[in-house]
Amino acid sequence: MTTPASGTTTPHICRTATGAINTACYERRARQLRAQTMREGLRRLLQFFGAAWQCVKTCAARHARQRALNALDDHALKDLALARSDLAAIASGAFFVDPTRRQRATAPATPQEPTMPRPICWLNGQLTPLEEARISVFDHGLLYGDGVFEGIRFYRGHAFRLDAHLGRLYRSAAALRLTIPYDRAALTAAVQETITAFHAQDGYLRLVITRGEGRLGLDPASCAKANTFILAGHLALVCEATRNAGARLIIAATRRLGPDGLDPRIKSLNYLNHILARMEAGNAGADEAILLNAQGRVAEGTADNIFIVRDGTLLTPPAADGALEGITRAVMLELAAALRIPARETSLAPYDLYTADEAFLTGTGAELIPVREVDGRALAACPGPVFARLMQAFRMQIERESLHAA
Ligand SMILES: Cc1ncc(COP(=O)(O)O)c(C=O)c1O
Repeated sequence: MTTPASGTTTPHICRTATGAINTACYERRARQLRAQTMREGLRRLLQFFGAAWQCVKTCAARHARQRALNALDDHALKDLALARSDLAAIASGAFFVDPTRRQRATAPATPQEPTMPRPICWLNGQLTPLEEARISVFDHGLLYGDGVFEGIRFYRGHAFRLDAHLGRLYRSAAALRLTIPYDRAALTAAVQETITAFHAQDGYLRLVITRGEGRLGLDPASCAKANTFILAGHLALVCEATRNAGARLIIAATRRLGPDGLDPRIKSLNYLNHILARMEAGNAGADEAILLNAQGRVAEGTADNIFIVRDGTLLTPPAADGALEGITRAVMLELAAALRIPARETSLAPYDLYTADEAFLTGTGAELIPVREVDGRALAACPGPVFARLMQAFRMQIERESLHAA
């Protein structure tokens, strides 16, 4: 009698020494195969239940989202983050394979190098490869800094506070009598097109309108049409260690231009004072510089607004003292109101920074950065309790708005 081969899908035909079919052997083998088929069926059923369980988790994720949307709920936010990583694992297939792979999917044992998408550019109406994105050397934006811009962050594929950014962009352009060749709907669509093409969930956009190409000489009359471009990339103003430990600030000798020179509400391409102040910070080994206005009042950072906390009250300089009307600054004031943290705009002197209980910087590039030291004076708390509450609320707000936009 020959031995049936194991692992085959049809029963091997067993024969007796005379060559007749050995039916008992055949049936035994058939039974074995039926059992094997049942085991396989069971395995698939379990896999199916695994998938169903993931669906339940997806519903839990939705529920967590809803809770996050309904309330400033830290637990819901954590659930949401977990659910997101589970969903990412499901999408990658790692969840279905085995529990060890699943563990790895939710908590990578070895940190993965994030694959950074290359910066891309939308130029005058179309996505353009970076190496082909060119504007003329006669563009007055380049020759004289004649133009306006916005830095915009996107989270989960959606531009954060895009309406506010576009509002400020059109107001800045109007103040400079610069015609933006696209209406708001077209610019909104261009921003979304750029985000989609960038292939990353989170990132930073630079939306720039230059006066356009013209003759040499300051007069913009020869510039027929503004150039518009949007760059998508990544931007971090400080490293993670500084973000956690707090930034060290200096007060720069370079002053902020006053409203009688250039109104601080105009977000123009003219940043030379800020660049000089930033260089001062670099020379002093500090992370950022604060500019004062001509009267010696605190205006802002080189690319961010400043807040201090004194006796539980949040204080920030008004635009009249030289602060840009920052979008992130406005979000802070909103969140402070929601959290019942007293907050107001007020003139500040360097003394107020030196003696603050807490201080922090806000901006689209900066996001929120706690301050630990100003001109060598260590602040009482960094990150302080008010900062911690606002930071958490800010994260929640980003989640909430990106979920609403989705
Ligand atoms: C000079 C200056 N101040 C403040 C800010 C912060 O403004 P926002 O929060 O709108 O980014 C910026 C941002 O670019 C800036 O350049």
